[in-house]
Amino acid sequence: CGIVGYAGRRPALEVAVEGLGRLEYRGYDSAGIALVGDGGALTVEKRAGKLANLRSALAGRPAPRATTGIGHTRWATHGAPTDRNAHPHTDCRERIAVIHNGIIENFAVLRAELEGEGHKLLSETDTEVVAHLLEEFAADGLAEAMRRVCRRLEGAFTLLAVSVDEPGVVVGARRNSPLVVGRGDGENFLGSDVAAFIAYTRDAVELGQDQVVELRPSGVTITDFSGAPAGTRDYHVDWDASAAEKGGHDYFMLKEIAEQPQAVGDTLLGRVGPDGMLTLDEMRLSDQELRDISKIIVVACGTSYHAGLIAKYAIEHWAGLPCEVELASEFRYRDPILTRDTLVLVISQSGETMDTLMAVRHAREQRSRVLAVCNVNGSTISRESDAVLYTHAGPEVAVASTKAFLTQLVACYLVALYLAQVRGTKFGDEISEIIGWLAETPSKVREVLATMEPVRALARSLADERCVLFLGRHVGFPVALEGALKLKELAYMHAEGFAAGELKHGPIALIEEGLPVVVVVPSPAGQRVLHDKIVSNIQEIRARGARTVVVAEEGDTAVEPYADTLIRVPVVPTLLQPLVATVPLQVFACELATAKGHDVDQPRNLAKSVTVE
Ligand code: G6P
Repeated sequence: CGIVGYAGRRPALEVAVEGLGRLEYRGYDSAGIALVGDGGALTVEKRAGKLANLRSALAGRPAPRATTGIGHTRWATHGAPTDRNAHPHTDCRERIAVIHNGIIENFAVLRAELEGEGHKLLSETDTEVVAHLLEEFAADGLAEAMRRVCRRLEGAFTLLAVSVDEPGVVVGARRNSPLVVGRGDGENFLGSDVAAFIAYTRDAVELGQDQVVELRPSGVTITDFSGAPAGTRDYHVDWDASAAEKGGHDYFMLKEIAEQPQAVGDTLLGRVGPDGMLTLDEMRLSDQELRDISKIIVVACGTSYHAGLIAKYAIEHWAGLPCEVELASEFRYRDPILTRDTLVLVISQSGETMDTLMAVRHAREQRSRVLAVCNVNGSTISRESDAVLYTHAGPEVAVASTKAFLTQLVACYLVALYLAQVRGTKFGDEISEIIGWLAETPSKVREVLATMEPVRALARSLADERCVLFLGRHVGFPVALEGALKLKELAYMHAEGFAAGELKHGPIALIEEGLPVVVVVPSPAGQRVLHDKIVSNIQEIRARGARTVVVAEEGDTAVEPYADTLIRVPVVPTLLQPLVATVPLQVFACELATAKGHDVDQPRNLAKSVTVE
């Protein structure tokens, strides 16, 4: 969910709605606002569906005079996405309004207790109990009431509340769920992330775990749940509002696909010394500690998990270390063998994904070192890990990840090469040769982007298909998984990625006349044997009627006779091929979904940052 809070001098309605517009990628099942009027009246307006519905509801009535307010955009957990379940929720007397992100695990017990005391709860949400509990403690003032309530809650939450008894005050609280403060001049902001207030200020304050913040126009007071003053960190956001705007593109996703050359270049910047050697001080591990690592476990979700699957090939090949890759949501529920010599590499664009955060905590409890690859400065995962390697993709707004994925690959390659450099598993000239290739990848990605018109035409021609399969071998396998995920996310189509060699063990039964199958072909120079095998796989599926779409590097003539459609990508070393081979699949999914009339920035049921487990 997306959360915004404001106390200042501007019309709070405008600030809240503007902030929600920038946070809508965090959830769009419903949207709502609560304002405390200058005269002390509470206005609550909320609507199921996207923010546009709330905007039209608001357009029909005069804006209340209010300079204090909160706003929420929801990704539904408890209760269907209806008007009634939309946030804010209020207490019995409608004097307090609350918004929430997360899950309150003991809400059923609290609800029963409140109902026993005569409270009438109207929604099916876990959130509403908070409004009623705040009402119980209202005599203590909103901030103290919030602290008392938080001490009774179990689970994960970011909460914001306003009360008619305290105009000019917004109180926030966080446990395991994101909340940042924006500092202004005579005004202050709260947001799930800095996008909420980036149009007004770039000065932010990170809140720690289990903290309560009291926001007033004149200042911000931060305590822990017991009321003791809490330590925080101020930081300056290194991008501005224009970076989070569409900049002439119809969709954020199109803009973010186009930004990939820049994002890849920015992620490499400053990490290669003039001698061609890598300098990754961010790893925060001494050379000896890096030499002592005996195993790497990569943990991530969604698209970031696919980056992790590719990282495994690079880590094993370059650094010579055993590497496992695990879905974050599975990781702590098995018994992963973690020791002091295990490096856990977590990958998360947002740095807030709850499954991944829980994996970080689990690994640290087992005394393993955690290195995070994150895109969002100051995010919870980056704060709680031992070290962070930031990707410099800039804000990614479209729900389906594109530029963040490419920069995650770059970061993982850098980690693998750095380990190789320190551990001496590869010769210096071999490492500098790969680094030389990496430096070329922004222009290679640019080349791919310049030749995408046939891919778009192909996508439009397949818009009525019901299923598309993706095949790959070696690093092409995770690329196939990512191509399929993009199509699922955006076009709501059945799409599956398979290891091409595994096809004959089952999935080949799916092949029927005319079924589109996208095949990612490894470089014939780098992986001769694999290349020849996949050419055979293409023939096998074609013989069974598949319509083959072949992604192969320039000059690979062996695939030509078997490709119904051929998509060319520039020649790069095999391990780097995902940087160029993923791009056509992103464009394909985006165009196909657009042809079906879908909003590619906000696919149904999804949210960009999932802060519940
Ligand atoms: C959500 C998004 C995915 C994303 C995944 C992991 O499910 O819809 O696009 O890949 O979270 O996100 P993270 O921020 O941890 O990389």
